[in-house]
Amino acid sequence: MIGRREFQKRRKALMGMMGQQTIAILPTAKEKVRNRDADYPFRADSDFHYLTGFPEPEALMVLLPGRKNGEFILFCRERDLEKETWHGRRAGIEGACELYGADDAFPIEDLDDILPGLIEPCERVFYTFGNDSESDQKITGIVHTLRAQSRSGKHTPHEFVALEHLLHDMRLYKSRSELKVMREAARVSAEAHVTAMKVCRPGMMEYQLEAEFLYAFRRSNGHPAYSTIVGGGENGCILHYTENNQKLKSGELVLIDSGAELECYAADITRTFPVNGRFSDAQRALYQLVLDAQYAAIEQIKPGNHWNDPHEAAVKVLTAGLVTLGLLKGKVATLIEEQAYRRFYMHRTGHWLGLDVHDVGDYKVGEVWRELEPGMVLTIEPGLYIGAEKDIPAEFHHIGIRIEDDVVVTKEGHEVMTDGVPKEISAIEQLMAE
Ligand code: GLY
Ligand code: MN
Ligand code: MN
Repeated sequence: MIGRREFQKRRKALMGMMGQQTIAILPTAKEKVRNRDADYPFRADSDFHYLTGFPEPEALMVLLPGRKNGEFILFCRERDLEKETWHGRRAGIEGACELYGADDAFPIEDLDDILPGLIEPCERVFYTFGNDSESDQKITGIVHTLRAQSRSGKHTPHEFVALEHLLHDMRLYKSRSELKVMREAARVSAEAHVTAMKVCRPGMMEYQLEAEFLYAFRRSNGHPAYSTIVGGGENGCILHYTENNQKLKSGELVLIDSGAELECYAADITRTFPVNGRFSDAQRALYQLVLDAQYAAIEQIKPGNHWNDPHEAAVKVLTAGLVTLGLLKGKVATLIEEQAYRRFYMHRTGHWLGLDVHDVGDYKVGEVWRELEPGMVLTIEPGLYIGAEKDIPAEFHHIGIRIEDDVVVTKEGHEVMTDGVPKEISAIEQLMAE
């Protein structure tokens, strides 16, 4: 559980970097219509959640470092008994202060009246343009009005800075309590993958396996962090396959990419296993190759190594293995140079993980790949996706494999958070035979 103190610590840290005579402005996400009058479940904007923990829609955070009568201001919905009877409870103005630690809170309807006065004395505005056009227009409108009033003595800020720059760097380093939540999300997700391996039988539908994940996540008060992928056979070769409506056949593999979101933190796990519980020789050869690549990539995760080192390690193992299996022809070094592996491995080996499944944080500093540091969390997810072209031996056709784990960089090296679900061939076969 991320406590109120931690949210406060984050705001303090950010304000420390912003300096004086500055303001940060951050709206939460918008509610989104699914169809007619049915909305998608609301999920706060990740940046907004990171700084406030405030879970309601129609809210906006303002930070004013050094402001005497309060540095943290929340604009939010007022209490309204009738609306709350229909749509659910609201914290209201009082709750924003008492429950979420705002120094001051105002009705969101008053934003247009109050915000110009908060911006006016500042030299620098931290706000990220380009995420929400309505808010963008509001901010630009305020600046226009202030400029127009310059002759009557109004001041206009000189500088606009993307709030993301500071904030996303902060989000990249996970605290102890964030790691605790992420380990729990990893544990719940891993357990669901184990269940899927246990219950899988030829003839089942892909969505029936998906149901195991939904059930497991909700039982732990979680949600899917992204749309679950259950791809049997050649569907495993479609990277973002989410229809999940086909029959699982004996002799084929099934690729499942599914992770829970707990307290807004994501897990992201992929496992690939045989529908009937036994790998064929061709499946075994390709699977072991992906697994070897994954081990080689994970091995590279330690402080001081660079972001791209795991990817390069995976590519080396995969390319050499593809040559051994006859799927690529030529010298390994040249094939890597020409990126010939991309025919079968067309995505990268991972991404940052946190409040967003593809989490924020720069991958390069200038032109150089970023150094790994303790507290960073990333996925390692090499794969192979083999088509049915004429030059490929038939036994490899339509095999899609990915193995994905979530790894935190530690002082000593790394910790795999998602090792609660097996990935060794013998361990998977044993589990499925139980
Ligand atoms: N599930 C999204 C990804 O693996 O990147
Ligand atoms: Mn991933
Ligand atoms: Mn994934």
